[in-house]
Amino acid sequence: MLLSNRVRDLSPSSTLRITALANKLRLEGLDVVSFGAGEPDFDTPDFIKASAIEAIRSGFTKYTPSTGTPELKKAIQEKFKKENNLQYSPEQIIVCSGAKHCLFNIILALINEGDEVIMGLPYWVSYPEMVKLAGGVSRFIQGRKENSFKITAKEIKEALRAQTKLLILNSPSNPTGAVYDRQELEDIADLCVARNIYVISDEIYEKLIYDGLKHISIASLNSEIYKRAFTVNGVSKAYSMTGWRIGYFAGPLELAEAVKNLQDHSTSNPCSISQKAALSALTYPDEWTKKMREEFQVRRDYLINRIDKIPSLSYVRPAGAFYLFCDISKTGLKSQDFSTRLLNEAQVAVIPGDGFGCDEYIRLSFTLNLDTIKKGIDKLESWLKKI
Ligand SMILES: Cc1ncc(COP(=O)(O)O)c(C=O)c1O
Repeated sequence: MLLSNRVRDLSPSSTLRITALANKLRLEGLDVVSFGAGEPDFDTPDFIKASAIEAIRSGFTKYTPSTGTPELKKAIQEKFKKENNLQYSPEQIIVCSGAKHCLFNIILALINEGDEVIMGLPYWVSYPEMVKLAGGVSRFIQGRKENSFKITAKEIKEALRAQTKLLILNSPSNPTGAVYDRQELEDIADLCVARNIYVISDEIYEKLIYDGLKHISIASLNSEIYKRAFTVNGVSKAYSMTGWRIGYFAGPLELAEAVKNLQDHSTSNPCSISQKAALSALTYPDEWTKKMREEFQVRRDYLINRIDKIPSLSYVRPAGAFYLFCDISKTGLKSQDFSTRLLNEAQVAVIPGDGFGCDEYIRLSFTLNLDTIKKGIDKLESWLKKI
């Protein structure tokens, strides 16, 4: 079939290949430990499920306004004010079908053929593909391991060109777990204001930060960066609601209106029932998320203690999210080879780093209970001794 150039150039998801192989081995009866998941292993809390059931029972099952219900937008407005020190009007807030959909919409509404988009490397797998779909060009800035792979204002400045329009930041980061501090963000904000660069701040892992660190939204730093920043968030990770597909963003009115038009003519509104569920997630005290975060911190600490004892592996300590980005260069294997062999020979699934732009790394999620993490690392350790 003669497919459009647009989709022909898209890269298949590198994570799916390993996941498919892991599923195949499971079907064959093998006991596979998977560190591959990109979502919490906790069930969606009951109080959230109850709101969705009530929405169905009461007939809240029709179209809603395309950018979200007024009550959900109000809750998001309050959340931004209370937690992020950000004031947005309801018209500046758009609810989409997941944070990924927010990112896609913003990029499509902002990027013209040939515009450049800057991002740190490693990057989250979908950013470059979205830029490609919009006709833009991604420019990668290699993060330094000694700086937890975070990119600096100085490095960004050196990469800027006349065509550069947008910077994508992701803190806490997938895949590294790195968290930008206030000074780093202030320097980046000053540069973006001075050079008139827009910023997408992907804050989907905001509530999963460890060691008492604090999340900062770049848009809150001053009134000038506020005019150029899009703050993206959602309920997927913080409330274990990945399947419900609710994300939201806020930013300058002109772009919000453009995204409204885009959404009007593509997906219409996000699912009405999921919007009710998201409303209760955002308006309930955060106790549930706090417990999940504490559990993730225990698992992270266990995982890094174990990896510390494996001489051929190293990592950058994740300050947030639920991933460990692990350096495998000492094994002499590239990430696809490493992951395929580890799965076939020891039944442990990890995500190869090449999809994030780093072929000498693998990503391990700690969205598994401690016993399973222990079993998986035992297997990984003895496999590494054999190769
Ligand atoms: C960095 C990052 N941004 C956005 C998303 C998308 O989140 P959602 O499930 O809300 O679309 C993910 C999901 O893995 C992610 O890792």
